[in-house]
Amino acid sequence: MNYNKKTVKDIEVKGKKVLLRCDFNVPQEKATGAITDDKRIVAALPTIQYLLSQGAAVIACSHLGKPKGPDPVFSLTPVAKRLSELLGQPVEMAADVVGPDAQAKAAALQPGQIMLLENTRFEPGETKNDPALAKAMAGLAEVYVSDAFGSVHRAHASTAGVADYLPAVSGFLIAKELEIMGGALANPKRPLVAILGGAKVSSKIGVINHLLDIADTIIVGGGMTYTFIKAMGGSVGTSLLEPDWLDYCRDMVAKAKEKGVQLLLPEDTVCAAEFSADAAPELVDTMAIPDNRMGMDIGPKTVARFSDAVKDAGTVIWNGPMGVFEFPAFAEGTRAVAKALADTNAITIVGGGDSAAAVAQLGFADQMTHISTGGGASLEFLEGKALPGVTCLMDA
Ligand code: 3PG
Repeated sequence: MNYNKKTVKDIEVKGKKVLLRCDFNVPQEKATGAITDDKRIVAALPTIQYLLSQGAAVIACSHLGKPKGPDPVFSLTPVAKRLSELLGQPVEMAADVVGPDAQAKAAALQPGQIMLLENTRFEPGETKNDPALAKAMAGLAEVYVSDAFGSVHRAHASTAGVADYLPAVSGFLIAKELEIMGGALANPKRPLVAILGGAKVSSKIGVINHLLDIADTIIVGGGMTYTFIKAMGGSVGTSLLEPDWLDYCRDMVAKAKEKGVQLLLPEDTVCAAEFSADAAPELVDTMAIPDNRMGMDIGPKTVARFSDAVKDAGTVIWNGPMGVFEFPAFAEGTRAVAKALADTNAITIVGGGDSAAAVAQLGFADQMTHISTGGGASLEFLEGKALPGVTCLMDA
């Protein structure tokens, strides 16, 4: 995939209506709808402020959640309110996406002003990438800017289709994600160390396959460890296990050897009798987890070995926690790996989703080179896949 795309700086926006696709898919409190984490809104500010300062009229849009049609629970109104507070200027909220209200408000919008369309998924054509919807959205504006990195893996009308009808460039957030993560994959400062965790091997197959070709060291932790351990003849007790992937894990161990990729697995494991915050932690050998115990975190020997690999790295890519970090008694492994990333001189990149949440919760967020705003998107990025929301943008 070509990571070198035109940005807002490469196109005239003065006096123009700009359709800006953001990823405002933010977590909300169920009962009140209050936004519980506004990071994705904050991440869009540099592009929005640039466009407004250049005299563009900004028509922002995004999806929120997975509504089956228009549904007030999934309205972007709380986002408009928060965005307005952050920008210090009004954000006009449209009642629809391409309907009469959006059209009237977009037509009246002046340079330096910003409005927000309603949830793009209120339109049935959005997730089908319906050309009629893409064309109608494009009809509101003269330029398309995408800054929705979290959604670039979706070929939807507002993330990709609309680029067929307007000159399409990236905002600063996508440009930064492409530069740092694209650089780490295409031309990494070596050694390149990839740390993979999280619950399931099956959700990381594409990432492992791709990293086997480019990484110097692959570190495996978290719930996915136990399928590897079982595949290598260890006993895993009641730990998370994906029996269908045992052969794959055996293969992967052999392939790593063949390709000269160092593969590090946990040597010791903190286990417990049950999946509970109050369960008593016990330290055991990872290859010999007792029958009635489940692995919950990596142990101190493993932490030392993993930290050592990170210390001498040129680039570290981290995706997925090392254990059940949501339970304080089983958060130490994830915390220690986050600290190792904070302490190294290497370029440190945290793939979004759970690992980004872990780094933030454990207080290391500002010590990483880059924390991706993409969950599924950064995973597909690490798989080396072409992302429709990126390929649709004009090459630089
Ligand atoms: C995300 O949160 O990963 C993005 O906003 C994409 O959301 P989606 O999985 O609903 O397409």
